Amino acid sequence: MLIQSVLAERFTHALASLGLENAPVPISKSTRSEFGEYQFNGAMALAKQLKKKPRDIAQDILDAVELGDLTEKCEIAGPGFINIHLSRDWLGKQALHALADARLGVSLQEQQKVVVDYSSPNLAKEMHVGHLRSTIIGDAVVKALEFLGHKVIRQNHMGDWGTQFGMLLAHLSDQLDSHSNTQAHRALSDLEDFYRAAKVRFDEEEDFADRAREYVVKLQGGDADCLKLWERFIDISISHSEQVYKKLNVSLTREDVMGESAYNPDLPQLVEDLLERGIAVVDQGATLVFIPEMADKEGNPAVYIIQKSGGGFLYATTDLAAIRYRCGTLNADRTLIFTDARQALHFKQTEIVARKAGYMPQAHQYQHCPFGMMLGKDGKPFKTRTGGTIKLCDLLDEAIERASRLLSERELEQNEGNANSQIAKTVGIGAVKYADLSKNRTTDYIFDWDTMLSFEGNTAPYLQYAYTRIRSIFRKADLDMDKVTGATSIFIENDAEHALCVKLLQFEEVLQSLASEASPHILCTYVYELASAFMRFYEASPILKQGVSEATKQSRLCLAALSAKTIRQGLDILGIETLEHM
Ligand code: ARG
Repeated sequence: MLIQSVLAERFTHALASLGLENAPVPISKSTRSEFGEYQFNGAMALAKQLKKKPRDIAQDILDAVELGDLTEKCEIAGPGFINIHLSRDWLGKQALHALADARLGVSLQEQQKVVVDYSSPNLAKEMHVGHLRSTIIGDAVVKALEFLGHKVIRQNHMGDWGTQFGMLLAHLSDQLDSHSNTQAHRALSDLEDFYRAAKVRFDEEEDFADRAREYVVKLQGGDADCLKLWERFIDISISHSEQVYKKLNVSLTREDVMGESAYNPDLPQLVEDLLERGIAVVDQGATLVFIPEMADKEGNPAVYIIQKSGGGFLYATTDLAAIRYRCGTLNADRTLIFTDARQALHFKQTEIVARKAGYMPQAHQYQHCPFGMMLGKDGKPFKTRTGGTIKLCDLLDEAIERASRLLSERELEQNEGNANSQIAKTVGIGAVKYADLSKNRTTDYIFDWDTMLSFEGNTAPYLQYAYTRIRSIFRKADLDMDKVTGATSIFIENDAEHALCVKLLQFEEVLQSLASEASPHILCTYVYELASAFMRFYEASPILKQGVSEATKQSRLCLAALSAKTIRQGLDILGIETLEHM
């Protein structure tokens, strides 16, 4: 349930009764609690239109609006805001309703078919820290969209094609004297080393470089042996990524792989089509599209190359083909693509060309969702001590190790054996993911082990710990938290309960902004504020203490259960696991 929509409906009705059928109904969250929880801000604009005093119009609306038991009071403030104070009765009822609902009161939205293009590493190399953001931000957005009821099609647009595969395949074929799989797996156990070795040979051995170039031609020509070798390389490289996904608790599978090579058969036709319709032209042997919409200062249009003079296709060509597939075959309503901000220009140009060519209907929402860089503490791009790129799997192992050390220091681990390493993994991976997700997507951020692993502040360990603390209340009361569905009533008895309840009922609102802005940090902020509101509530409202009446205890247990479930669901959408004990 969206509080905003419930209010909007009542105000729309009121405006209609005043003869203002098409007036906008702006309802927003209040910035301070003394202004109530929400505000109706439409009176000022109406005043201009009707040439009346805004406060008078606000009064007319207030007289007409039927809010019933929804509100405690409404007041006109400032130039003509209507401050809405929700009633404790109504809040309690809604919270009880959310608790009884497996979806925690979040309604299902009208379904959209959404393609989410994320992670998309290049298979010639190992996944490195640069892929962390695309992978986890994309996955959180996917999960939020799915929870809201949309049909999501994951597309892992892996870079599995291109001239660099020539040298990789030449080098691989040298290492295989049989067709045994173990041999190939061993050779490719470290793709980074493998790539480096192949590159050294390419630069230093003339014979090898020639053979590498031959491989490129053979591969593009569809030579069967060469393709087999390529498939094997790709297969092993994908399995490296799968290991990272598993460790990261990311929902991508092999079925979601739709690599660049998948579009190869469409590329010649696509170029032909654009040429035939005069959208593309041949210029000095290359095929390109001029984009006057993106001209430089001198008025020269941007140039978007789709085929090189030698005949080769480009990243751009593949992205146009991907649009044809996603809009034409998959029939998607919306596309979200997660890459770093440096690709913004490419996607802007791609969109203009695709729309001009009619590959994408006007109504299709094509959204490149850029993100900033991960920086080291020195403010420079995050690198190893020797200046190399950091492999993602190494980074994650280090996170688990650090979490494990930290947990032993804190003596939080009361479990044994496997359970310990499970906790370390949950905390370590959760910390890395949350530190990233909680930052505004578009800005750069500093990667800092100490802050992300802290049990204080807006971190995964803090939230995971807050969750286990609520669970422990139920253990003490000998109750199964998941079975507390609130047969009783929720009474809101003090300000802390009031604030917590309002927060709890804003879950859907938050999920919707996450989904529309493709920004998981909105949910992180929410879960953190919710956990903090819970802590304040728990201080003000003891639950299991002697002297608390049974009815109050039940009511507070309901609020606690709904808090824990909402934190858990929120973290689950963010791809962060919770624990019963820590
Ligand atoms: N493979 C690319 C990279 O690593 C990202 C691909 C993003 N998706 C797309 N449709 N171009 O930078």
